Amino acid sequence: MATIISGKEVAAKVRAEIKKDCEALDEMGITPGLAVIIVGDDPASRVYVNNKKKACEEVGFVSEEYALPAETTQEELLALIHRLNGKPDIDGILCQLPLPKHLDEKAVINAIDPTKDVDAFHPSNVGKIMIGDYDFLPCTPAGVMELIHSAGIEVSGKNCVVIGRSNIVGKPMAMLLLHENGTVTICHSRTKNLKEICAAADILVAAVGKPKFVKADMVKEGAVVLDVGINRDENGKLCGDVDFDEVAPKASFITPVPGGVGPMTIAMLMKNTLKAAKLQNNL
Ligand code: GUN
Repeated sequence: MATIISGKEVAAKVRAEIKKDCEALDEMGITPGLAVIIVGDDPASRVYVNNKKKACEEVGFVSEEYALPAETTQEELLALIHRLNGKPDIDGILCQLPLPKHLDEKAVINAIDPTKDVDAFHPSNVGKIMIGDYDFLPCTPAGVMELIHSAGIEVSGKNCVVIGRSNIVGKPMAMLLLHENGTVTICHSRTKNLKEICAAADILVAAVGKPKFVKADMVKEGAVVLDVGINRDENGKLCGDVDFDEVAPKASFITPVPGGVGPMTIAMLMKNTLKAAKLQNNL
């Protein structure tokens, strides 16, 4: 049976460290500030945004929420971002995705000042990650790496397989594993022999967005399995991309859903916001 890597515990430790750093900044008269933009009333986005605000409060940051109606125009959204770019008490800006269909996500990401881009979605930050010279790491892949480190797992030389090629998770995840000298394969919807490729992985990261997609026959005995998915199963219960009950007995380490990668994503957002506050203040 696998050792369960508790993202809940690791994230609490990370937040405690950030809180300590924040207290030191406070003595210099600096309070990190995060602006969170949410457009429309997607219930999942609402939960994520509430959790982000709660985390800010816990570590001692100021958070400002900008809840805009679903019919907000592109011009209105861009005007808000430009205003926040120039707002000195705001160090980080996050626009919760997905946006309503009439809005141009790419243009919105491009409008955020890269030094305040705590999601690390701006092309300039994505490019910096590619060459291994970055200020911010994307929150979910960075959270997965922290979980790997917390369990004392060595990446160098390992066969790493990432299922999913999104700009938010799959692609940057592969890059971070590569930075630590993993041999990385990215699988996606057109991949042939998916089962065989996954079953050869020492480290398997599932970021497909399909409930219980990874079954026991896709996992090597003793593999490390990291589950990025947040889905609902047929009974409406929260579940990951990995069929936990089937896979856990085969894996050496596994992350649960909930309580695995999810809390880490938010902890990494706090880490990026702290970094942004230091950058804005030339520290
Ligand atoms: N939607 C799903 N994940 C994320 C994330 O990490 N950041 C933002 N801004 N939106 C998301």
